[in-house]
Amino acid sequence: MHVMGQPTWAPTDPLIPLELPTPQPLDGELRVSVRAIGVNPVDWKMRSRGPLRLAARLLGPAAPFVPGVDFAGVVDAVGRGVSEVRVGDRVVGGTDFSRGQRGSYADTVIARPDQVHVLPDSVSFETAGALPVAGVTAWMSVVDLGGLREAPADRKRVLVIGASGGVGQLAVQVARAEGAFTVGVCSGRNAERVRALGADEVLDYQAGDPLVAARAFAPFQVVVDCAGGYSPAACRALLRSGGRHIMVPGETAGAVLQMLVPPFSSRLLLGRVTTERLAPLVALLAQDRLRVEIAHRLPLAEAEQAHALSQSGRVAGKIVLVP
Ligand SMILES: NC(=O)c1ccc[n+]([C@@H]2O[C@H](COP(=O)([O-])OP(=O)(O)OC[C@H]3O[C@@H](n4cnc5c(N)ncnc54)[C@H](OP(=O)(O)O)[C@@H]3O)[C@@H](O)[C@H]2O)c1
Repeated sequence: MHVMGQPTWAPTDPLIPLELPTPQPLDGELRVSVRAIGVNPVDWKMRSRGPLRLAARLLGPAAPFVPGVDFAGVVDAVGRGVSEVRVGDRVVGGTDFSRGQRGSYADTVIARPDQVHVLPDSVSFETAGALPVAGVTAWMSVVDLGGLREAPADRKRVLVIGASGGVGQLAVQVARAEGAFTVGVCSGRNAERVRALGADEVLDYQAGDPLVAARAFAPFQVVVDCAGGYSPAACRALLRSGGRHIMVPGETAGAVLQMLVPPFSSRLLLGRVTTERLAPLVALLAQDRLRVEIAHRLPLAEAEQAHALSQSGRVAGKIVLVP
């Protein structure tokens, strides 16, 4: 099979095309012929020194390192004991290095049935491929950890910081689909896009402190910070009693400590992709109630360029690689 990867664990290794033996699915596994791959910041964060790289090295397969989680494609082989999906099914899912799996920057991936969801014909591979990590993270932030469904109808208010990015664009739409009054924070150039996603109000962080401007719409049930770099205390001050501040970029010791600050309303999450978590998102896509905006489509061979774009922190929407 054809992959884009780093030949060794040296963080300076560029991503290069590599040929690896095509894997056969073992018992309980399925193999997918990949049609589209979503790029997430975790893909390039795993290439640099730090906790994510260490975890991938300790728990993941031996070198070469193949980054990537998101994929959409067609099941082309299944191992014994797999009844949830069949050869020929269109699926969307995420790989998991902690299960010893290689990343998704490849024309072929191995996964388990509880990591994929069958995809209706009406949803394109590109749209689906860009969904998993960002969608699951948005859903967990707003619904599971944010507790939006438990909030009284007149208290369903959500603030999304970084509303034009991969996670943010989906968090805005999930909040709206759940009936919340939704405020998005982004730069002025993306304000119209965020409004078009359904945000009731948009705050331009270049025009002044958005957490001060957000007081006019407080209290919120959920403050989802997808950007990082904003004061957790100021985010918590915008919450109603029982509300939640979700720190989406959370791989720092400082973020962990924030969970211990009274009234214990800050939360970290791990947007791990599962069938169960994909289900409501695929349903919303099939009903045309969710849009995944794709900012860049690139061939898989240009993965290095995709990482440079993602690292700029300025991409509005998702980047998709096509093998
Ligand atoms: N915990 C988890 O499991 C998990 C899962 C997914 C992602 N993450 C992390 O969450 C972060 C966001 O991920 P992503 O995929 O959404 O990234 P992304 O798509 O690269 O986010 C880019 C967006 O960030 C916005 N932005 C940059 N600076 C901002 C600021 N100061 N205020 C508000 N918005 C700002 C930009 O909007 P403008 O151009 O309008 O400024 C841009 O649209 C990353 O650090 C990622 O690693 C964590």
